Amino acid sequence: MKKTHSNGETNGAMQGWKTSIVTSDPGNIWIRGYDTVSLMQRGSFADVIYLLHRGELPSAAERRLIEALLIGISDHGAGAPSCAVARMVASSNRQSVAAAVAAGVLAIGDEHGGAGTPCMEQIADCLARVSNDGVSLQEAAAAVVGKAIIEKRRLAGFGHRVHHTKDPRIDFIFGLARKHKVAGDGVRAVLALEAEIARRIKPLPANIDAALAAILHDLGFPPSAARFIFIVGRVAGITAEIAEEYMRERPMRVRIPVTYDGKAPRKLGVAKGKTRR
Ligand SMILES: CC(C)(COP(=O)(O)OP(=O)(O)OC[C@H]1O[C@@H](n2cnc3c(N)ncnc32)[C@H](O)[C@@H]1OP(=O)(O)O)[C@@H](O)C(=O)NCCC(=O)NCCS
Repeated sequence: MKKTHSNGETNGAMQGWKTSIVTSDPGNIWIRGYDTVSLMQRGSFADVIYLLHRGELPSAAERRLIEALLIGISDHGAGAPSCAVARMVASSNRQSVAAAVAAGVLAIGDEHGGAGTPCMEQIADCLARVSNDGVSLQEAAAAVVGKAIIEKRRLAGFGHRVHHTKDPRIDFIFGLARKHKVAGDGVRAVLALEAEIARRIKPLPANIDAALAAILHDLGFPPSAARFIFIVGRVAGITAEIAEEYMRERPMRVRIPVTYDGKAPRKLGVAKGKTRR
């Protein structure tokens, strides 16, 4: 029997990785079994994103929804945290495009661009209450909102710094999902949550992260997919923002007005009870 070391090596040789995503030979590349050149001829980038993550090609309706979401996610202006951070790093480190892109991606989290994942968990929470407790979807949404209020938590996927009353992307995406008969419990749960939030807190419109969460839920994606798909879409905008920063702006242009309100300048003395060495 071969001896396996704790670092995963067998007799000094690394064990082969197993993957079901991509393979190749000197003349071919296959993504989930489909020839890449054939996909280049007849497919779209949204097809390939779906194929990479789900293992199968999307239907025409699924492709259209993924495309619409990616467009909605792609950019929201230089001031959006992911784009602003990317531009800031591009401004001070003009040698590394990768550093600027990575910095922009690192700004994505629960508050910005990453709320889709916890929003999918909220949707699942609502639906679990409907099936386990026999309550209506509206009652389940009221319970989820009530729990967030008690825990002093913000509801993921609701509210926006610019779109205070309505996010212009949402009606279109939900309409598209209805037209293609994709809209299901995910879309219904987000609308129920939006109504309960307006009733219990204040009108906080569903944002693009909630739309992403609703559609990905209805397409059968797991919650982690919301952050992956947001990052895939936003990197398109981040790269354009960085390119504009390099081409249009001078290095180190960003000067943030800073007010110091700490201790006044003071002498370094000997602390009481301690002897200087
Ligand atoms: C996007 C967000 C950061 C905007 O924040 P903002 O500009 O401070 O929001 P507003 O000025 O409209 O509202 C601020 C108030 O509403 C409350 N509020 C805002 N969004 C809320 C939410 N999702 N759930 C509960 N309360 C919320 C805040 O607690 C705050 O109340 P306070 O004044 O008593 O502290 C915020 O709505 C949020 O955190 N949303 C959840 C995360 C999310 O979906 N992010 C993706 C954005 S595309």
